[in-house]
Amino acid sequence: MNSKSEIINKFKKKVKLIKFHNNQYFNLDNPKISDSEYDKLKKDLISLEKKNSFLRDLNLLESLVGATPTNKFKKIKHLKPMLSLSNAFNVTDMGDFIKKVQNFLNIKGKNIELFSEPKIDGISATLIYENGVLSKGLSRGDGTIGEDILANLMTISKIPKKIAGQEIPKILEIRCEIFISKNDFQKIKKNFANPRNAAGGSLRQKNPEETSKIPLKYFAYGFGAVEPMNFSSQYDFLEKISNWGFIINPLSKIVNGIKEIESQHKKIDSLRSSLDYDIDGLVFKVNDLELQKRLGNTSNSPRWAIAYKFSAEKAITKIKNITIQVGRTGAITPVAKVEPVTVGGVVVSNATLHNEDEIIRKDIRIGDTIQIQRAGDVIPQVISVDLTKRKKESKKFIFPTKCLCGSNTKKELSKSTNKEDAVRRCPKGYDCKYTAREKLKHIVSKEAFNIEGLGKKVVDQFWDLNFIKEPSDIFRLDYNKIKDLEGWGELSIENLKKAILKSKVISLEKFIYSIGIRHIGQENAKTLANFFISIKEFSKLFDEKKRVDILKNLLELDGIGETQVYAIKNFFTNEMNTKITINLIKELSISNYSLNNKSGKLSNKKVMFTGGFQNISRSEAKSIAENNGAKVLGSISKKLDILVVGSSKPTKKKIDQAKLLKIKIITEKEWNSMLNS
Ligand code: IVH
Repeated sequence: MNSKSEIINKFKKKVKLIKFHNNQYFNLDNPKISDSEYDKLKKDLISLEKKNSFLRDLNLLESLVGATPTNKFKKIKHLKPMLSLSNAFNVTDMGDFIKKVQNFLNIKGKNIELFSEPKIDGISATLIYENGVLSKGLSRGDGTIGEDILANLMTISKIPKKIAGQEIPKILEIRCEIFISKNDFQKIKKNFANPRNAAGGSLRQKNPEETSKIPLKYFAYGFGAVEPMNFSSQYDFLEKISNWGFIINPLSKIVNGIKEIESQHKKIDSLRSSLDYDIDGLVFKVNDLELQKRLGNTSNSPRWAIAYKFSAEKAITKIKNITIQVGRTGAITPVAKVEPVTVGGVVVSNATLHNEDEIIRKDIRIGDTIQIQRAGDVIPQVISVDLTKRKKESKKFIFPTKCLCGSNTKKELSKSTNKEDAVRRCPKGYDCKYTAREKLKHIVSKEAFNIEGLGKKVVDQFWDLNFIKEPSDIFRLDYNKIKDLEGWGELSIENLKKAILKSKVISLEKFIYSIGIRHIGQENAKTLANFFISIKEFSKLFDEKKRVDILKNLLELDGIGETQVYAIKNFFTNEMNTKITINLIKELSISNYSLNNKSGKLSNKKVMFTGGFQNISRSEAKSIAENNGAKVLGSISKKLDILVVGSSKPTKKKIDQAKLLKIKIITEKEWNSMLNS
């Protein structure tokens, strides 16, 4: 039996502990325990007080455990979205990048001047100067909406608070990377996992005084909104802002051609360990800002830049077993379970074997000694097998032809190449519990519904407990049941509730992407949303009769081909998919598709191109048309408003068809003057 004083002591100890964790969570933004551990601690305290009424007189709990976290920082919409970068891992990827740029700009074979900068492994932030005065400072947030961290950024002494000089734009938005130097990190390392983590924690302090205690630095690398715009190249931009007092990275350089790219990459890689800040690759940017503007962005990243990562870390290990994993499209991926090995600071125990052909090609077997590599955030891969270490009795691996659910798997014929796919698939969709589970994981992912707190592990847990079997279940969760689960408490449930509620409002393009139709990625989802505009129109796809006509029309959209149309048809022909989609729609508020640039000169016009243009590629012409509000079609129909005839090899048949349908036909020159009018 515990004496009263023992209980009081125990209680006070726990109070001290929760105070410590409150400070870590709310003030330092560096939680030391998981939400569930925190919840458990809180529960323990409350039940202790309930059981022992004398504890209540100490009045210790009320102020401590009542509060749920507030949204610490004000949310502010970025003037221009903060995008991410696509990655290159080798010289081939870099060659592809250059080709893509050349193709888009229609300048095949011509040199493109690039600007190379180290990719700083820190935290991105943006600084807005109005008439030379620092007025806003935001974190990246989700790229569209950032957090107001101005007070914290103000504590970084080298960030100019006011800029003076010639030609200072009225609005100047500077994008920069905030970091902590390796040296400074040594002094505080006991509190943080790595320098990046320390910089992030420091930047998100509630109290700027705490930020000022951790020595932050920055490099400015880019711009957002600038009015008026008076820079001509990335080089020119950096030179100007450096004169205005911003810190820029000294290891930047103009490079031409793949040879110079490679040698710059090697050179900086060799300097990497001697630098006082972490870098994880180089960023190559098209130097000319006019060209950057023409290249524009895809959904997530600019077409004019790429991150060329430093080479992957490699390690030797042994295959213990080969199992299969089922993806959200039913794709069966073989996975090597390997003896745990540390690769680039991370313990790896799984490596992907891609598909059946890859296993046959490399003759990979259970028991083999292999070399694996891990590059960036991608799943580790098996690079080679050490045949000298193979035992005599080892047997070839026979690839299973059944899915984990027991169904037979199939290799499909590709619509475009008419060849058999390398990947085996389970055809059961939501009827296969392994596929269904992965579909749910896709739905909650960042690019889709983006439900924080409902990650892959939680989906697995809720699936096993029958809480979530199809997407709409997410919005009908019984939180009372969750409350009793190990690892869940008030705080984590409250956060989950909020995140789910927030995700109920979703745009049509995100919704279309989320439901996970094969071959419908973010770009295609946008094209489809631009076609359907509203969920009401999209829902007509559920009706078999209406579907036939709609699918024909979809073929007219630029970017949507037979493969996509076939995939959409397949998806909705499956009654289960349709039912599940309808159930989901009932839970949501889906907003109509709206173009960023509604007031464009071609607003709501349907345009088609035939023939090549003099100076720009078809892709660029399409992107210009879309930026001006147009829909770009891929074939002639009554709905078409304008056919633009390029000067190089237009198709006569298309022009004749358009004439017949009395569609407005204009030349490349007329098109240009229409846009420039
Ligand atoms: S340019 C996407 N240049 O990398 C817009 N980014 O993966 C163009 N970063 O969010 C980015 N050093 O936080 C650029 N020299 C550099 C960079 C850099 C670090 C970060 C930045 C960005 C992320 C993109």
